[in-house]
Amino acid sequence: MKAVGLFQYLPIDAEESLLDLQIDQPEPGPRDLLVAVKAIAVNPVDTKVRAPKPDAIVETTPKILGWDAAGEVVAVGSAVENFGPGDQVYYAGDITRPGCYSEFQLVDARLAARIPRTQDYSAAAALPLTSLTAWEALFDRLEISSTGKDAGKSILIIGAAGGVGSMAIQLARALAKLNVIATASRTKSSFWVKQMGASHVVNHRNPVDEELTDIGIPEVDYILCLADTDQHFPAMANAIKPQGKICCVVDNKEPLPLNLLKPKSATFVWEFMFTRSQFATDDMDRQGWILEQIAELVDNETLVTTVSDTVEPISATNLRLAHRQLETGRTIGKLVLSGWE
Ligand SMILES: NC(=O)c1ccc[n+]([C@@H]2O[C@H](COP(=O)([O-])OP(=O)(O)OC[C@H]3O[C@@H](n4cnc5c(N)ncnc54)[C@H](OP(=O)(O)O)[C@@H]3O)[C@@H](O)[C@H]2O)c1
Repeated sequence: MKAVGLFQYLPIDAEESLLDLQIDQPEPGPRDLLVAVKAIAVNPVDTKVRAPKPDAIVETTPKILGWDAAGEVVAVGSAVENFGPGDQVYYAGDITRPGCYSEFQLVDARLAARIPRTQDYSAAAALPLTSLTAWEALFDRLEISSTGKDAGKSILIIGAAGGVGSMAIQLARALAKLNVIATASRTKSSFWVKQMGASHVVNHRNPVDEELTDIGIPEVDYILCLADTDQHFPAMANAIKPQGKICCVVDNKEPLPLNLLKPKSATFVWEFMFTRSQFATDDMDRQGWILEQIAELVDNETLVTTVSDTVEPISATNLRLAHRQLETGRTIGKLVLSGWE
């Protein structure tokens, strides 16, 4: 089958950073779906896994990246009951397994759901990783009510115009009924976050606590930080309300000064979208369930998909372009690739 993969971890300008390959089609294990991949989305995690490593590692078998896909089930494992051949599914999958830059991919059935009825494969592929991250961050980690019991409380979403932020704004607004303050640094990204449902926009190029004071909201109940954790931590500690909650998704490079949160008894929590699959947690089927909720919310027009660009086909050349765009740190919404040559 066709695939795009790598043997060496190289800067994206190197031709060999992503290669067109032919590899063997995998066989499903008992709990797996074998999916004919029709469309994929790219995420910063792809570029982080692809990026040069301190040791010049050379893989003996190709490393296949990609953790956002939509496609058609072509075979199922012996223990799979809720899916069958012909089902149209979408999923983020498992970072410890080969990714979706391949014509066929295996995914544990507990991590997948049927795509929204009203959407094609490209629109569906834009949804899983960012929706799962945003849902888990808001409702599982920050423990905000998804049924409106926290209505009227405030959330600051830092880095809100990107893939995760675009879904987080929508979920915080439509399900939790929060007052959403989003950060964006450019006219285009500011416009986008307002379109997604933010009530206020502040600029993350300035300290966000000062920006909040300037708009008359000096403290917020929740903060979801989707960008440089080290950069924003001191301002987040200032801006969080006493007993408020902060969730981050991006690795810190320096030790975090958590003691800044002690006077306020504020909570700090991580969200890592691959925790459930990587550790096969007892509740890993929650990811399939979350994607079922997302499909329903898209079908009833509570949520919109966040595709900002779609290119064809899925190839090394187009994936190198997509990675280059993601590495600018200025992507709005989601980049999708569809079809095989
Ligand atoms: N832990 C997890 O499970 C998990 C899951 C998904 C993503 N992530 C991580 O979360 C981050 C965001 O992911 P994404 O898919 O949303 O990325 P993305 O689509 O590439 O996000 C781009 C956005 O980030 C904003 N931005 C850039 N630098 C910023 C800064 N210093 N402070 C605040 N905002 C900044 C930009 O806004 P402007 O253009 O307005 O400047 C841009 O719109 C990535 O690092 C990704 O690896 C983690």
